[in-house]
Amino acid sequence: MAFPKGFLWGGATAANQCEGAWDADGRGPAKTDVTTGGAVDRDRMITYIDKDGNPGEMTQFAKLPEGAKYAVLDGYLYPNHDGIDFYHHYKEDIALFAEMGFKQFRMSISWSRIFPKGTEETPNQAGLDFYRNVFEELRAHDIEPLVTIWHFDTPLYIEQELGGWGNRETIDLFVKFATTVLKEYNGLVTNWLTFNEINNPIAFMDMMWPGSDEEYQSTCVELHNQFLASAKTVKIAHEINPDYKMGCMLSGGTSYPLTPDPDDVLANRYQWEKGTFYCGDVQCKGGYGPYAKRIWDEHSVSLEVTAEDEKILAEGIVDFYTFSYYNSSVVTTHDGVDKDARGNFTAGVKNPYLEYSDWGWSFDPKGLRLYLETVYDRYRIPMMVVENGLGAFDTVEEDGSIHDDYRIDYLRGHIVEMEVAVEHGVDLIGYTTWGCIDLVSAGTGEMRKRYGFIYVDKHDDGTGTMARMKKDSFSWYKKVIESNGADLA
Ligand code: BG6
Repeated sequence: MAFPKGFLWGGATAANQCEGAWDADGRGPAKTDVTTGGAVDRDRMITYIDKDGNPGEMTQFAKLPEGAKYAVLDGYLYPNHDGIDFYHHYKEDIALFAEMGFKQFRMSISWSRIFPKGTEETPNQAGLDFYRNVFEELRAHDIEPLVTIWHFDTPLYIEQELGGWGNRETIDLFVKFATTVLKEYNGLVTNWLTFNEINNPIAFMDMMWPGSDEEYQSTCVELHNQFLASAKTVKIAHEINPDYKMGCMLSGGTSYPLTPDPDDVLANRYQWEKGTFYCGDVQCKGGYGPYAKRIWDEHSVSLEVTAEDEKILAEGIVDFYTFSYYNSSVVTTHDGVDKDARGNFTAGVKNPYLEYSDWGWSFDPKGLRLYLETVYDRYRIPMMVVENGLGAFDTVEEDGSIHDDYRIDYLRGHIVEMEVAVEHGVDLIGYTTWGCIDLVSAGTGEMRKRYGFIYVDKHDDGTGTMARMKKDSFSWYKKVIESNGADLA
């Protein structure tokens, strides 16, 4: 049996994609609350009122026009407003997770539920109470919470009025928020992640969005500020409770060279450096890797890294490494190659050896093994796969059953490769599948892109009863957990 005793099987969610109750009990808005639904071929849009009072919309990666304010507008549907209403269904949902035998449940805390604008001196008690209730419910079912402190949801006020992560002031606002929850839930939570997929902005530059020097400049500054916020949080957490385990969380970006042309091989090597090691080295080794200077020079980035910053980064090394893994990508320097592959934040060349989902994501379990073995060899700290899963259309049969054998096949393939990695020496301690209960897609804002073992009756037009139903994968995963990964049939 490859998986160690006590292996943390479970599932993962994020506050903004499942809680709903976006303006309940004092919660302030986040960017996801002004983001519309989209589809695989239609961008999600961010809505605003321009300086002359006219409504406007822009893509998620565009910059807010001068003088404009983010706004919720009539005539648009904002899927994150209701999510799957986990806010009111958490007891029922946790009971279902417990029925599957979850050892661990990954969730995030919405910053603006605790500090609605981010700048308040005292936290919102109703927000604190909500998460306390959720953690107590989990504990009552012997489920360990794994808590992401930031999952793409900076309070809108900080983004709009203070310039978000480009402003060093945001570091202290985050640390205040993080310190509040680290103190508040001492005794209820042990395992924490600071920033979800911290590497996204730089990893997918030039792949998903054009990497102008200006973009690199702002991204490197924003990341540096997040690194500092993360490192300060790790240090404070260990002071609050030496038993706290603090993890980083990166988007798992396995990539391959398209050809053996040395230029392709080098380009792929540099993609790993930019996409994975740039953030991994800072968070796991306590400082930037030697190649960082090459990246900055190539894009004329001027980054202020003070001696004090270096000290903070060195003192804020994480205890374990976590990542999401959905698919892999291909890198080439060659022109004239069809670049129609779309993945989780990636776009690029299709891999002829792999199959692709309805959303254009490759199915590549061996890429997960490669990632685990490569990254473990570099950092030698415990690892967890905290997101993995297949977003797919599900059909509810007349009798209410949902036959999602495609999801079982996807997960089985990845668990098999995790097992091989463990046999090869990787210290893998946990696995939480993404969207263990259906939730709003981050990339497209859709409900019909479903990941769950539990179906939620909620649809892209906002209709639905929010009823929960078990899919075939529910009993399959229960068996996997019961057998500690031995029974994957
Ligand atoms: C990761 C995010 O990028 O991928 C999640 O951490 C997200 O928030 C998940 O939901 C799957 O992506 P999508 O676009 O299918 O929701």
